[in-house]
Amino acid sequence: MKFTPQHTALNRELFGPDFNWGVSTAAFQIEGAHDADGKGQSVWDNFTEKKGKILNDDHARHACDFYNRYEEDIDLIKKLNIPNFRFSISWTRLLPDGTGTINQAGIDYYNRVIDYCLEQGIEPWVTIYHWDLPLVLEQKGGWANRDVIAWFGEFTTLCAQSFGDRVKYWMVMNEPVVFTGAGYFFGIHAPGRSGIRSFTSVIHHVVLSIVAGAKILRKLLPDAQIGNTFSCSLVEPLTDKPRDVAAAVRVDALINRLFIEPLLGLGYPVKDLPVLKGIQKYILPGDEDNMKFDFDFIGVQNYTREIVKYSFFTPYVSASIVKAENRKVELTAMRWEIHPPAIYHMIKKFAAYPQVKNIIITENGSAFPDEVTDGEVNDPKRLQYLQDYLTQVLKAKNEGCNVNGYFVWTLTDNFEWAEGYHPRFGLIHVDHTTQKRIIKTSGKWFAEFLKRPIKQQ
Ligand code: NOJ
Repeated sequence: MKFTPQHTALNRELFGPDFNWGVSTAAFQIEGAHDADGKGQSVWDNFTEKKGKILNDDHARHACDFYNRYEEDIDLIKKLNIPNFRFSISWTRLLPDGTGTINQAGIDYYNRVIDYCLEQGIEPWVTIYHWDLPLVLEQKGGWANRDVIAWFGEFTTLCAQSFGDRVKYWMVMNEPVVFTGAGYFFGIHAPGRSGIRSFTSVIHHVVLSIVAGAKILRKLLPDAQIGNTFSCSLVEPLTDKPRDVAAAVRVDALINRLFIEPLLGLGYPVKDLPVLKGIQKYILPGDEDNMKFDFDFIGVQNYTREIVKYSFFTPYVSASIVKAENRKVELTAMRWEIHPPAIYHMIKKFAAYPQVKNIIITENGSAFPDEVTDGEVNDPKRLQYLQDYLTQVLKAKNEGCNVNGYFVWTLTDNFEWAEGYHPRFGLIHVDHTTQKRIIKTSGKWFAEFLKRPIKQQ
């Protein structure tokens, strides 16, 4: 068979003994139990109720039912020999109204999840915010309202106080450019707003909130490792014509540099992104000091590459990007190009910022239309993707980049936002009707790869 473990020279030891291996998830995509035990509504609960917003009108009311099946799923993580588990906290389980009254049942639930991980010898890595803003806060302006910095601070404080005695690894927010761009500019994610004005204010408020959250964590949990995760794609021009090259610089500034650069103290990349100059009016006196943070690690999340050509509308991504499906390249079910060198180049790019001390690949993975045959799920394409991307991570590491972790996206097939359930990203197949889990061939390979050789006495 083509895709068995012995067909790759990869092995865990090549990455060194301290490399952090893990698997990543997000609350809204797996938990379900949308109104259980006092949980309030988030923008995503609301958005998924609207007709036509999600492919096939799928919703996440039940998702993978992780809320009730967390023990079974954490047992599976253990079975796969995965030592680190990344998950996010649902804001409205803890604070149903966004601020104010605390819902103890929500805190109890995450305590159970964290304690069960630790009992199984699995290290919890917590993302505070993975896109599920409380709906009541959105109704007050959401990320476009500067008060959000205080609202988010209250939520972060509660997370730190409730879980900080056991959680050592924290990520403040997940992929800021995606939830702000898709949610407030394109309107294809919750809360479904569009236009440049609210988008510009949202960017600045998110930067200030990330820093506020990180500072709260640092103060309350001085020994914690604090990071933030960033989406990124390798951006290359279609031709070497100056107009295409310039377009690529703009798209790169928008999708790869917009958040990391201010957060590292380098300011917004307005020179390469003049469309953003309006952001100045949201920057109030004193903000400069509250826009940067000395992160312990940077979470890099890469899946693909984008090819860019000049367009009158550059950097508006949809106008400038040459779709992968029109480029005769191999695609995943997300219609993203499979391009393993992308992750190598992105590690190099992030490692080149002198302020970046430590890189963890907090997400990488692929979706394919897996099928169950005789009770098994054979997924050779995902296995190949995993091995090829890991090979590139190793290459960057061997060339001296400070990359010290790799988390697969994701554990189980789950709710892929506007794409609903059709893209299957899991190492474990889920029958979304029965909730039955089946470990795919890729999952079995990862388990084998992670298995530590028995030490000689
Ligand atoms: C980025 C996001 O963090 C995650 O929520 C999403 O499901 C994966 N990448 C795949 O698109």
